[in-house]
Amino acid sequence: MTMTSCVNLKIWLLNFVILFSMVSLSHGRLNAQFQVKAVNLGGWLVTEGWMKPSLFDGIPNKDFLDGTGLQFKSVMTGKYLCAESGGGTILVANCTDASGWETFRLWRINEDTFRLRVFNKQFVGLDGINVVAVSNICTYSETFHIVKESDNSSRIRIKASNGYFLQAKTQELVTADVSEVREWEDDDPTIFVMTIAARLQGEFQVTNGYGPTKAPQVMKEHWSTFIVENDFKFIASNGLNAARIPVGWWIASDPNPPWPYVGGSLHALDNAFLWAQKYGLKIIIDLHAAPGSQNGFQHGGSRDGSQEWGKTNKNILQTVRVIEFLTARYAKRPSFYAVELLNEPLSPGVTLEMLNKYYKAGYDAVRRHSPTAFVVLSNRIGPSKPKELFPLANGLMRSVIDVHYYNIFDDVFENMSAQQNIDFIYTNRSSQLNNITTSNGNGPLTFVGEWVADWRVKNATKEDFQRFAKAQLDVFGRATFGWAYWALKNANKYWNLEWMIENGYVKI
Ligand SMILES: *[C@@H]1O[C@H](CO)[C@@H](O)[C@H](O)[C@H]1NC(C)=O
Ligand SMILES: *[C@@H]1O[C@H](CO)[C@@H](O)[C@H](O)[C@H]1NC(C)=O
Ligand SMILES: *[C@@H]1O[C@H](CO)[C@@H](O)[C@H](O)[C@H]1NC(C)=O
Ligand SMILES: *[C@@H]1O[C@H](CO)[C@@H](O)[C@H](O)[C@H]1NC(C)=O
Ligand SMILES: *[C@@H]1O[C@H](CO)[C@@H](O)[C@H](O)[C@H]1NC(C)=O
Ligand SMILES: *[C@@H]1O[C@H](CO)[C@@H](O)[C@H](O)[C@H]1NC(C)=O
Repeated sequence: MTMTSCVNLKIWLLNFVILFSMVSLSHGRLNAQFQVKAVNLGGWLVTEGWMKPSLFDGIPNKDFLDGTGLQFKSVMTGKYLCAESGGGTILVANCTDASGWETFRLWRINEDTFRLRVFNKQFVGLDGINVVAVSNICTYSETFHIVKESDNSSRIRIKASNGYFLQAKTQELVTADVSEVREWEDDDPTIFVMTIAARLQGEFQVTNGYGPTKAPQVMKEHWSTFIVENDFKFIASNGLNAARIPVGWWIASDPNPPWPYVGGSLHALDNAFLWAQKYGLKIIIDLHAAPGSQNGFQHGGSRDGSQEWGKTNKNILQTVRVIEFLTARYAKRPSFYAVELLNEPLSPGVTLEMLNKYYKAGYDAVRRHSPTAFVVLSNRIGPSKPKELFPLANGLMRSVIDVHYYNIFDDVFENMSAQQNIDFIYTNRSSQLNNITTSNGNGPLTFVGEWVADWRVKNATKEDFQRFAKAQLDVFGRATFGWAYWALKNANKYWNLEWMIENGYVKI
């Protein structure tokens, strides 16, 4: 090799390196030879199924957590208590079926004192002896005790804080004016049959359920035992290369998050970064619960099922600050790979307009600390268009669209056979994914950020499950950013990737 050709070669190599790094920096696609094969670490944010079931067992009166939906049927008239017009006026006791206005959502004050919130969000209170639902402000509302019959806990009385019991005086008149009650006879207008129509079991419910003395210790125990270093080792040695970690907005004020949350989630995330680095894994931080809740779900940080996120600029800015906090903290860590700005915003409560505004501001917050992190934008769930984020995402370098593909929640899957489910993956899911995968090179990458090898098929064989898992790995393997299984650990074994791998149901 002559001197000149050696220099030429060096210049050529240098050009190549510069060109390549420019291309890979400015360009999602070409840099995505690394494809994320991730698992979701549900459990950082505690929710039903994403924790040891025993975590609930210690909660006093655990049937009555925040958000529990209660219905009360008068034993005398056989009709339900309900908020007339859904709220804003009196309560009545003339509703024949329990379809919405008859459900009262609990706010837990302590283990036996509650506020009751009606369909239109007002709190049940008293106006003289009349029972009304007119106040939107919880501080002016009445609290209630639920007094159960000793040998049948579904028969109850509702006692107001002035000591009087509620009665369905007539079908059109509910009052709080009974001070002395008799036995539990069927002609007693103070007795109702109570049914639990809904439950929420997320971190809000668990921490408020335990209360400020017990919750810190219970949560600390959970964080230090549920997902541990060995799990990261397991992930790395089973063909996976990343973890998507759901966190709640209160992590940004650790160690002193607002009530009822308790400190410690940030320390847990710090551990995740240490272990991920040790085993060569990437981390996708996923803001799964935003202030006010972006979807009203138990995993979305909702107290009682309501969805308030994004309705004010202040709320959006508060969320951006959480993203900024997390990015600033971890941007320099080798495992830091992507930030997902918001999990599963629910349409129509979250409008495309608020979401675009937040995604743009959240993207800029990430970029202030990291020029290279991928920024993941979750598509809205509920009524929405698969490409509605493209006008924004097309202009954002290294952005990613996250879609969640489950053959479970939609009723179209109700009567499908195993083979039909598998065919659905190869045809329908495949074209849905194609539909959002751009070929021009400047568009966002695609990420199937949640999927699971479980379905509504009854009596499926192990081989059916294996073929279903393989179909999804085949198809979601074409997602240009990658995919993430829900979840590493779960109460349902098919949702528990650790169990699925150890028992030969999933092979990555
Ligand atoms: C409790 O009361 C409900 C409602 O009246 C009734 O349906 C149920 O059978 C009772 N349970 C027992 C164990 O008596
Ligand atoms: C129940 O009573 C209220 C108040 O009188 C009335 O407006 C409403 O139409 C009644 N509902 C039913 C189902 O009878
Ligand atoms: C599934 O089958 C049941 C029983 O035949 C039927 O009632 C139901 O409507 C079916 N569901 C769908 C989505 O077709
Ligand atoms: C799946 O796609 C096929 C062909 O495009 C279509 O006929 C079918 O209705 C789709 N299935 C469902 C459940 O949407
Ligand atoms: C593909 O996208 C178009 C336009 O958004 C939509 O109308 C169509 O239903 C989508 N097809 C699939 C299979 O998702
Ligand atoms: C599943 O198996 C049970 C027990 O063998 C049987 O009774 C049931 O009909 C089966 N269900 C379906 C959908 O095949």
